[in-house]
Amino acid sequence: MAIERVDAYLEAHKGDFEEQLKALLRIPSISAQPDHDADTRRAAEFLRDDFRAMGLVDAELIETKGHPLVYAAGPRLPGRPTVLIYGHYDVQPPEPLEPWTSPPFEPTIRDGNIIARGATDDKGQMFTHLKAAEAWLKAGGGLPVNVKYLIEGEEEVGGANLEAYVAANRAGLACDYAVISDTSQFAPGIPAITYGLKGLAYFELIVKGAKSDLHSGMFGGTVANPLNALAEILASLKGPDGRIRVEGFYDPVRPLEAWERAEFAGLPFSDAAFLAQVGSPSLEGEAGYTTLERRWARPTCDVNGIYGGYQGPGPKTVLPCKAGAKLSFRLVPDQDPKQVLAQFRAHVARVAPPGVTVEVIEHHGAPAVLVGVDSPGVRAASRAIEAGFGTPPVFMREGGSIPVVGLFKENLGVDTLLLGWGQNDDNLHGPDEKFSLADYHRGIKAGAHLLAELAGPNGSGGGQAMTRMPEDRVSFGAWKDVAVDIPFEVFEGNRREMWGGGPGEGHG
Ligand code: BES
Ligand code: MN
Ligand code: MN
Repeated sequence: MAIERVDAYLEAHKGDFEEQLKALLRIPSISAQPDHDADTRRAAEFLRDDFRAMGLVDAELIETKGHPLVYAAGPRLPGRPTVLIYGHYDVQPPEPLEPWTSPPFEPTIRDGNIIARGATDDKGQMFTHLKAAEAWLKAGGGLPVNVKYLIEGEEEVGGANLEAYVAANRAGLACDYAVISDTSQFAPGIPAITYGLKGLAYFELIVKGAKSDLHSGMFGGTVANPLNALAEILASLKGPDGRIRVEGFYDPVRPLEAWERAEFAGLPFSDAAFLAQVGSPSLEGEAGYTTLERRWARPTCDVNGIYGGYQGPGPKTVLPCKAGAKLSFRLVPDQDPKQVLAQFRAHVARVAPPGVTVEVIEHHGAPAVLVGVDSPGVRAASRAIEAGFGTPPVFMREGGSIPVVGLFKENLGVDTLLLGWGQNDDNLHGPDEKFSLADYHRGIKAGAHLLAELAGPNGSGGGQAMTRMPEDRVSFGAWKDVAVDIPFEVFEGNRREMWGGGPGEGHG
């Protein structure tokens, strides 16, 4: 059988796949830093060449106003479904460098993990889908479905050029299924399909006072201090109950459905283990919601950076003339980033103290997404994950944002299968970013099986676009029986409570 030859190829080439990933990770494709533009292009060329080497000879770079896209397609197989696979080859800046224990672009293997910037986000995860196709082309007698790959180089900087490309190439990108591996599993040993992502509204707030910096003794108490004003504005954004105090902000928020609350509560999650992972003194957040509910399905507001005044060593008595903050709202269905911008502007205008001017700049805006959990594509993906990881997936949401999922829905009419191979502690965007090599190989295997599963029996395919989120409660099937046996001590603390049927612990 072809799938057996594919599996054998994957087994035989594990070492090669690791070396190739290392080579990709050595390229510092930091999309935000113009000094690295040549490196960013080199990562695109690396992928193009890898597609060509596996036999997709038409693979090409598509130029944009910024970093190029990489596009590759398999041979046309009439009557077979088409799968569009998206990933990104750009990475976040590695700075600050001090907390890294090995250099960010010198991939290092430790404790079964590969450590490098981009290991999990998204080079390692994205590359699994190239190796999956390679196995079919080299050992399986050809691909079982039509494939189109679209690999972006500007995801970490907002991806404005991708938006234009997708809108202008609806016919070329037409597909039955879209697939992205750029999220996480629920926990080690518990793979997941993500059915919801948060949206994002990212702003910069600029506060100005006098025409230049002033002596804080001579002028303090008479002229407004933009940093003080900024602090007042920021402090007004949230109440002691963790609720965001921007008028109208919660109006469109779609409440969690009863089945979701039940499913989240049934996942083996412990606040104590989560706290230990992040190393904070205690948890915080909106009253009335569990930690997983707040992380995955409730909107949030966070200051991402603040500037103004004297930042150098020692004291300087100065009344700064300008201050600013970068802040983001993570959004949930059905909030609209444009409406949040208007609401935020109105809020700032209302609470800004006298003596300063305020300006709000919009950096990113993307709505949240929810995709169907019961469709032929999801069922095929569940079987593929079971083949790759040895256990079927749980269904979860995530707090991160992948704006292209909304673009695919809007322009191509498809829901995306969000099949994450990462872990919550991979430290993406932080120091010592990692990706488990075991998960890398499992992800490749799941990706290879996915292509066969999406082809359907006899390669006829289902061909159906995925369905929308069902209104009724959805039963996720047998995964709970598997999750109960999680061999990881972090869950020991709450397993009895979660699964032992203690008082008040009903799952549905
Ligand atoms: N891969 C992440 C998104 C992600 C991370 C989803 C973890 C789910 C779990 C992606 O590369 C990313 O960083 N997205 C940005 C948004 C973008 C517009 C800059 C984000 O979520 O901050
Ligand atoms: Mn990513
Ligand atoms: Mn990212």
